[in-house]
Amino acid sequence: MNEKQMAGYEAAKYVKDGMLVGIGTGSTAYYLIEKLGQRVKEEGLNIKCVSTSDASTEQAKSLGIPLLDTNDAPELDICIDGVDEVDPQFNGIKGGGGALFREKIVARSAKYNIWVCHSAKLVEEIGDFGLPVEVLPFGYKHVVKKMEDAGFEPVLRMNKDGSIYETNNHNYILDTKYTNSKFGKDYAAMEAFLKGTLGVLETGFFLNCTDLIISAGADGITTIE
Ligand code: 5RP
Repeated sequence: MNEKQMAGYEAAKYVKDGMLVGIGTGSTAYYLIEKLGQRVKEEGLNIKCVSTSDASTEQAKSLGIPLLDTNDAPELDICIDGVDEVDPQFNGIKGGGGALFREKIVARSAKYNIWVCHSAKLVEEIGDFGLPVEVLPFGYKHVVKKMEDAGFEPVLRMNKDGSIYETNNHNYILDTKYTNSKFGKDYAAMEAFLKGTLGVLETGFFLNCTDLIISAGADGITTIE
């Protein structure tokens, strides 16, 4: 079993019969969903899930996991998702897979949040990964300009074939370094600035958003709360 699989499978143990469950996106959440599918099939686990991306929806459907629309389940018992970087204060960055908006809605709907990750995602200070920011296509260069004026270094996310990457919401992603921004290390201020900029839908800052982290590395599984 690889590390991401270990973390994803461990997190699936926190899902109990009757729960409404938010399921995340990415290569670690993939294993969570895989295990939930097994439990639904083999144990008759009775759950209903809300998905954070088209990819996770397709995977869950293929495994026979019952799904609900987000609007039919505005409150969830638990949400389990991956993370791109997280510091000891549980400040996280997500959106490497472009699903940050749906992930944040689903996370904020849940009474309890778990992040699953490879231990390499646990860092002393978030920032190396950069920050994904979801923007509306109309006028996105206005956002680029505002961000650059504030010291951010936004880059439009592209596909390998040279086309512009689009989220499941048909928006664009600006991946930005922020270490030279005028906000120093004040993530909450950066978040407020970005969310206050016309054209920004959501940022990949996930601050005060998780209750538990399950990471897996060469030493096995570590649970941090
Ligand atoms: C998608 C995400 C993912 O949770 C994040 O990118 C982690 O993915 P992985 O488990 O593949 O490393 O935020 O938008």
